[in-house]
Amino acid sequence: MISVLLLGANGQLGTDVQEVLSNSTHYQVQAVSRNELDMELTSEVSSYLNKQNFDVLINCTSYHKTDECEDNPLKTYLINSVSVAELAKFCYANDKLLFHISTDYVFSGRSNVFYTEEDATRPVNVYGISKAAGEQAIEAYHDRFFILRVSSLFGKAGASGKGGNFVETMIRLAREGKPLKVVSDQYMSPTHTLDIAKAIKSFLDKDVREYGIYHCSGDGSCSWYEFTIEIFRQLNLNVNLTAVSSSEFVTKAKRPANSVLSNEKISKIHQMPLWPDALREYLTRKEYL
Ligand SMILES: NC(=O)c1ccc[n+]([C@@H]2O[C@H](COP(=O)([O-])OP(=O)(O)OC[C@H]3O[C@@H](n4cnc5c(N)ncnc54)[C@H](OP(=O)(O)O)[C@@H]3O)[C@@H](O)[C@H]2O)c1
Repeated sequence: MISVLLLGANGQLGTDVQEVLSNSTHYQVQAVSRNELDMELTSEVSSYLNKQNFDVLINCTSYHKTDECEDNPLKTYLINSVSVAELAKFCYANDKLLFHISTDYVFSGRSNVFYTEEDATRPVNVYGISKAAGEQAIEAYHDRFFILRVSSLFGKAGASGKGGNFVETMIRLAREGKPLKVVSDQYMSPTHTLDIAKAIKSFLDKDVREYGIYHCSGDGSCSWYEFTIEIFRQLNLNVNLTAVSSSEFVTKAKRPANSVLSNEKISKIHQMPLWPDALREYLTRKEYL
């Protein structure tokens, strides 16, 4: 029996990690919420961990309201970088395996090919800088870790930090019957959180020892506009949808134009499904199909 301490257990990804691991008798999951450990209180991290009994730590916490982070850099760094460094230091000192979730937003988006784990990070906003710093802290302080960079998540629980997810927002707006405008010049890899949870379980089941950074996203790529077309196509919804340029949607935080992740490295351990297949599974799980 492997004992797992799961931080951010009530979030979109955390909920699915809890479900997938708890379905196996091989894992015992201790779900931790913000009430028990507030990652903004960096000095409390190690004393909290010290009181817990576990083999593997999975960190699904994050402050990731990308525009809000621009106005709150200190809070962003405390949660996404400084406390993550504390997790890494504790795990190194106590020989615990650490899984940490990072983001496609560590990249600048200037490349026009799929990003690999070898590519240099160059974030363009406070959130991305804080996540890149979190990765660097783990690499500096620990040696037995997996950092999974994920992107554009949709999961059954909806992101608690964002109040839902893109798929749900599109479905709600479509049902309101209003014409929709969606950005067509930002490319990414939509990812079902259930598939990340399954990937984490594969790493554990197979006792993988090739530690380091792995990209872990829905296979393939699309623009947000193309993603929206596929949502409505699968749901058989007829919506008045227009493609617009990101210059028409000015946001506080800059966003990468291309943050598509290559899954080549992770595919040797776990195969991520094509994103349209993952979307279908999500819509089925949510009983839209
Ligand atoms: N959502 C995306 O599109 C996306 C894209 C790329 C990468 N990611 C990364 O994927 C991971 C999971 O994201 P998600 O979509 O599952 O987000 P989520 O649903 O918002 O979950 C984030 C979790 O972090 C917890 N949290 C936030 N601030 C905290 C604090 N100060 N102390 C303790 N816990 C705190 C939240 O707790 P509460 O439930 O109490 O709020 C929640 O459980 C994150 O690392 C994120 O950076 C997400």
